[in-house]
Amino acid sequence: MAQIIAEVSRTFNEYLLLPNRTRTDCGPAAVDLRTPLVRHRVGEASAIELHAPFVSAIMQAVSSPELAIALARNGGLSFIHHNQPVEEQAAAVRKVKNFKAGFVTSDTNVRPDDTLRDLVAVMRRTGHSTAAVTHDGTATGRLLGLVTSRDFHPQRHDLDGPVSGRMTPLGELPHAGGDVTLSEANARLWEERLDCLPVLDGEGHLQHLVFRSDYADNKRFPNQVVDGGKRLRVGAGVNTHDYRERVPALLEAGADVLCFDSSDGYSDWQAEALTWTKKNYPEIPIGGGNVVDGEAFTFLAEAGADFVKIGVGGGSICITRDQKGIGRGQASAVLDVAAARDAFLERTGDYVPLCSDGGLVEDYHVALALAMGADFVMMGRYFARFDQAPGAKVPTRDGFVKEYWGEGSNRARNWQRYGQGGQGLVFEEGVDGYVPYAGDLNEGLATTMAKIKSTMVSCGSVTLPEFQSSARLTLVSEQSFQESHASVTLRDTSGTVA
Ligand code: IMP
Repeated sequence: MAQIIAEVSRTFNEYLLLPNRTRTDCGPAAVDLRTPLVRHRVGEASAIELHAPFVSAIMQAVSSPELAIALARNGGLSFIHHNQPVEEQAAAVRKVKNFKAGFVTSDTNVRPDDTLRDLVAVMRRTGHSTAAVTHDGTATGRLLGLVTSRDFHPQRHDLDGPVSGRMTPLGELPHAGGDVTLSEANARLWEERLDCLPVLDGEGHLQHLVFRSDYADNKRFPNQVVDGGKRLRVGAGVNTHDYRERVPALLEAGADVLCFDSSDGYSDWQAEALTWTKKNYPEIPIGGGNVVDGEAFTFLAEAGADFVKIGVGGGSICITRDQKGIGRGQASAVLDVAAARDAFLERTGDYVPLCSDGGLVEDYHVALALAMGADFVMMGRYFARFDQAPGAKVPTRDGFVKEYWGEGSNRARNWQRYGQGGQGLVFEEGVDGYVPYAGDLNEGLATTMAKIKSTMVSCGSVTLPEFQSSARLTLVSEQSFQESHASVTLRDTSGTVA
């Protein structure tokens, strides 16, 4: 006979945190959001720590190199999606690892015999006013000079004349070798009163440009998550079908951490894939999931998972529960798995971090997930709203929206995540839609972090372990949930009363 779990399946909206006593030394500036990413022995530090408890979903519409760079610079980490050929995913990982703050790959490039008219067209397209003149017009060609919009005037100069006539030739152009550091480059920009310093390799090929403004920009990110070589950290998703080829290619590309991405990780396939990876590539940490209960957590932890991801059916684009009738309210799932994680720690001395994945709609849901025992959260919808996410920004009557589609939708067709038999989707488990546009990730994430810090202060905690061990949560009734929202008529911008 089927077993009926007595406890009701609950979501984050059904809980609130009770304030604890806040001591005078517990203010937002004192709050430390550092959190472990991978398995470690009790009392030791995790080999990889996040500086903010956020990772981005393993999805086409979310985890591009651009988003990964922005998120790692803000203390989190992205998992580049695996719904693409191995080589493309490895190239995306390489792009993040090769990112050097302040060192930009020139996107405004011309050949010396291109006309000034061609140059104007390129500048108009890129929106930049400094162009590299290279022998073949590419970003990595042999550098012959630089030309800026200040070097010519459309009324004074013949626009059909060659770029070479107005450029500053390499002989007169201060430049640096490939081993220059950002602070050395910055010192030269100021001492030599330059706006831009080209960086060349031994053969005179252009590698990067360093601009004065980018140095200041880099100073804005004190929380960057970097490896021993000061390169941004990045993760990558893998699946239980082609991991024998994908894992080594991602490792070679420089991925810092991997994660098996499956809508249902409680399977022998995932345990076998974890065991194989641990045996053949013990140096790379690898997470598993998704699960919704303690039994499945213990199964993956015993198979070697370095963190475990929780969540089935709660994602904003997800229709798995409608289609298949499986899943669990995310709050119940996190609480159950966290209890199993603590028991596993007690039994083995290994701390296996937990990731709450999907269904986080309000910023305060993140605080609830962390209070319930998650070490970090994975979000799709949240990140898909920002400029740095790959979905197109679409104008509407009231502003903008961004495209956001599920991995189990017909648009993504990620059959490796949704084993339905064969190489394809038999039915959809996700939808294709839009989310409200939210601007720049740097600003949006700063606001979310400010809210989480403020919640932690109210709960009297300055670290996440403290928050988890002292949080007091209460269930809310339908009536008290209503009370949480404003109950006045809101003033509109014109000041008129409706
Ligand atoms: P969100 O943050 O609520 O948008 O949820 C994102 C999470 O939903 C991802 O990290 C996945 O675990 C899950 N997911 C992604 N695509 C699909 C889908 O097509 N169907 C069901 N779940 C999905």
